[in-house]
Amino acid sequence: MSVDSTVPAVTMDAIVALSKRRGFIFQSSDIYGGFNGFFDYGPLGSELKKNIRDCWWNDMVRRRDDIVGLESSIIMHPKVWEASGHVAGFTDPLVDCKVSKQRFRADQLYFAKVVVDGQTVGYVSALESEKTTEDLQAAAEAMKRKKAIQGKLEAVQPKDFTEAQPDEIEKIPSPATGEPGSLTPPRSFNMMFQTNVGAMTDASSVAYLRPETAQGMFVAFKNVVDTGRVKLPFGIAQIGKSFRNEITPRNFIFRSREFEQMEMEYFISEDADWKKAHDEWIEWCRQWLLSIGLPESHLSLYAHPKEKLAFYSKGTVDIMFKYPFGVQELWGIAARGNYDLTQHANASGKSMDYFDEAAKKKFVPHVIEPAVGVDRILLAVLCAGYAEEDVTDEKGNVEKRTVLRLSPRIAPVKVAVLPLLKNKEALVGRARELYKKLQRRYAVFYDEAGAIGRRYRRQDEIGTPWCVTIDFDTIEKDGTFTLRDRDSMTQKRIGEAELFALLEERVY
Ligand code: GAP
Repeated sequence: MSVDSTVPAVTMDAIVALSKRRGFIFQSSDIYGGFNGFFDYGPLGSELKKNIRDCWWNDMVRRRDDIVGLESSIIMHPKVWEASGHVAGFTDPLVDCKVSKQRFRADQLYFAKVVVDGQTVGYVSALESEKTTEDLQAAAEAMKRKKAIQGKLEAVQPKDFTEAQPDEIEKIPSPATGEPGSLTPPRSFNMMFQTNVGAMTDASSVAYLRPETAQGMFVAFKNVVDTGRVKLPFGIAQIGKSFRNEITPRNFIFRSREFEQMEMEYFISEDADWKKAHDEWIEWCRQWLLSIGLPESHLSLYAHPKEKLAFYSKGTVDIMFKYPFGVQELWGIAARGNYDLTQHANASGKSMDYFDEAAKKKFVPHVIEPAVGVDRILLAVLCAGYAEEDVTDEKGNVEKRTVLRLSPRIAPVKVAVLPLLKNKEALVGRARELYKKLQRRYAVFYDEAGAIGRRYRRQDEIGTPWCVTIDFDTIEKDGTFTLRDRDSMTQKRIGEAELFALLEERVY
């Protein structure tokens, strides 16, 4: 068999279609028409997500001596969010279109003056995308043509709507209607979901669904230090749901309103070399992404400019991933000084001091925070692993195959067990015996329906790294079976012990 690798770049349409077709991801409340910004993970999606979580937890917590786990509550005391700054400042700039009633994030809505021979003849707008500048330029050209203006059109200079001057706002067309005059000035919109705790629904009962898991670690810091036998430097890690009322949830599960975070707060001494610790954590995170199969070519680093950092922040670097809709933040690694612990110490009146035995002094530890979204990793592995290929068999027949090249570490199914024929009791019996044995340790799949080639294709599409086929040689000769590799599509004969050794090495 040979493979034509000149395949087109993966599209989001292909990923969304596969996710639905094979049961990875559905829109939430599908039978009611869906609910924007919320998703359900189906049978394969929930396995894939669990595997991503488990790999992170094993590598971050169980396989390290300096990090412990935590599972804090989703709804915390409302004072937590006042102290952390979320009540006052966890906002996005919101712009309304008064005609269409659509809402936009001002920093994702771009505009440009249309300038001909040095004269401004109007404004154009476009929503942020891979090709915002091209869209604005095309709109400017269309305006010049429509107004039949002679002269030289200058290249557009895109700005986002937060930079619009008051006199410009009414001249900028709404992306929803194409007409000016309906956009409001940006206003701050708090992204926390509010709820009420207890029987009263008044101001005294207001509480919030957490917008990040991080505050759980800061608030429980004292409890962990007092009980966890931890010594600086050490980390507290947590995996859990977070909720943000995003103005424009988009790009499938990339930006949603309910999502899952994996965050770790790594506490260091006030005298420690924070830059070194920050760099080490950036590299740890990068290596971890490679270990679950993301290609190095799709990863890059983005250092936030100093002038955009919060006053307490020493530095933030994002690991970026090349998604089909552009290069976007996957994992943020922030050096946050001792801001969070100090805020909670001041607001609660409880000391967050750590006593350093060696230095014989007390101080509030500083922190390095790697924070990543499980859903964003899951989308990245789907996008990086997806391919549609032309496969030519020995007889020269060309066939299309869709394949998901997922790392064995995270693949939802590790091995598919296939008896060559379903009506031969001896084949089926041996296949089921192996299947049951594998099932004790691994997620495996048993399939006896259809031609063997078709069964391989079904597994390729869901990312199963290996298929084993039980044939007549298995039962009549040495007990070996065919191991078929998803990526190379090569086949070889191996025995049961070898299969378990392969799984032991590659699934960890
Ligand atoms: N405690 C720091 C913090 O929460 P963040 O950059 O706001 O930082 C961390 O979020 C990570 O959480 C992001 O890098 C991203 O992977 C994920 N994330 C944030 N908002 C998200 C959303 N609306 N949908 C999906 N994932 C999101």
